[in-house]
Amino acid sequence: MSIKNHERQILVEPKEQVSVPKPPRIFELINSQEPLQKKLEQITSQIYTDFYTAASMSDREKVALGLLGLLEFGNDGLAALQYGIAQDTGALGETARKLVSFLPEKPNADEFAKRTALEKSLDIQRYGDIIFDEWEMEDDELAHLYKINPILQKKFSNKKAFQAAYIQQRGLKPGIRKEERLEQERLLMQGVPPGEATYRFMKKRKEEELISDIRSFGNYEASYIELLGPLDVLRLRSEKEPKFLLVGADWGAGEFVQFIDKINPNGKKYIIDKTKMYTSFFKHIQSQDKSLITIMDGLNLGFKKEQFDCVFINYLLGVLIGDKNQTFKESLRLLFTQLFAVLKKGGSLCIVDEYEYAHKFSKDELVEILQGAGFSKTNDAGFPLFCLFQHDRLRGIIDENGFGQFKNIPLVCKDNDFTFRFSKP
Ligand SMILES: C[S@@+](CC[C@H](N)C(=O)[O-])C[C@H]1O[C@@H](n2cnc3c(N)ncnc32)[C@H](O)[C@@H]1O
Repeated sequence: MSIKNHERQILVEPKEQVSVPKPPRIFELINSQEPLQKKLEQITSQIYTDFYTAASMSDREKVALGLLGLLEFGNDGLAALQYGIAQDTGALGETARKLVSFLPEKPNADEFAKRTALEKSLDIQRYGDIIFDEWEMEDDELAHLYKINPILQKKFSNKKAFQAAYIQQRGLKPGIRKEERLEQERLLMQGVPPGEATYRFMKKRKEEELISDIRSFGNYEASYIELLGPLDVLRLRSEKEPKFLLVGADWGAGEFVQFIDKINPNGKKYIIDKTKMYTSFFKHIQSQDKSLITIMDGLNLGFKKEQFDCVFINYLLGVLIGDKNQTFKESLRLLFTQLFAVLKKGGSLCIVDEYEYAHKFSKDELVEILQGAGFSKTNDAGFPLFCLFQHDRLRGIIDENGFGQFKNIPLVCKDNDFTFRFSKP
């Protein structure tokens, strides 16, 4: 009996808390329990201090957090901005007036649009190159990418070798795909279980490919950061043990875990997939990351209600496996109803998917189905940001103010993708 108790004690021993960066003062004021008017005064005063002592980009981010924070308090916050900060005769007043004038022009602008306008006026630069047509890269553009990216310089002895490899991968893409299929078939013939075979060739592809071609979670890191926004990143960071769920595992499972660790290393990660084949695939990921991976149907969740802070789906909708007796739209409806139920109030659902690939519905239909399940739309991250090179995957930084930093990481805007964030009111 005493041995059993001893074992039990070891099993329930709480895992060691990993330290998380201390949130900036302005964030603490935004989330304080003070009465609203006092709180608005404190935020306003901190914005002044941060702005007029700002020496670095990190300081300017704090100003942005404060101004965005005010906008979260509805008309009272707007009044503090309009009749308080915007009356300042210095440079802060000018920035606040720009933000105020932007609001009525775009009353329905989501958080990302407001934030981009604000960051621009505060000269906050977090991104490097954003490429709108990765198929048409000129020689000088490739030379520029080589010059700014130390990993490319390590991989290729000179820019010509890099340019040749880039052009070759573009040209050989279908060939690479065929090779891969053959490799998987070969492994299956040798008796390697399907999940294991998938794991092995995906690993090889992720390691060897120069240009990202697999749209897995980590390749969209920037989109997910922008969908959440800095204030909510900081909120998730300040929770003791926030819970995150990824529906649809595949390769993205391990990347999802790494991403969540950047937000909050004490966060709990849950990953589910319906396909049993992934059991052996998951073992690899699970052993690396201690995440909680379960074979479970997204349309029939076995979780307690209202427990997740945030749910993510990456490239699930187009390949959603539903019930044979249901139409595709009925399956989508069921999925979103289930996700709505397990989210906490105020929690979010972040989605990245591809229209062409998920051509079974239009953008408007999708929004309608989500709203029908009870969600309200909050953010669309501007445009999808996908990392151009495999080696840059998950190299983004989430800084101490909750902002994503992607300097020297070229990103591609994928026209056919969409990014949405919906919240449970
Ligand atoms: C294209 S993969 C998604 C990729 C992954 N999220 C990533 O970022 O790499 C789609 C995954 O969703 C899973 N899936 C499809 N329908 C599902 C359902 N009803 N419930 C749970 N998982 C499902 C599939 O088995 C597959 O692993």
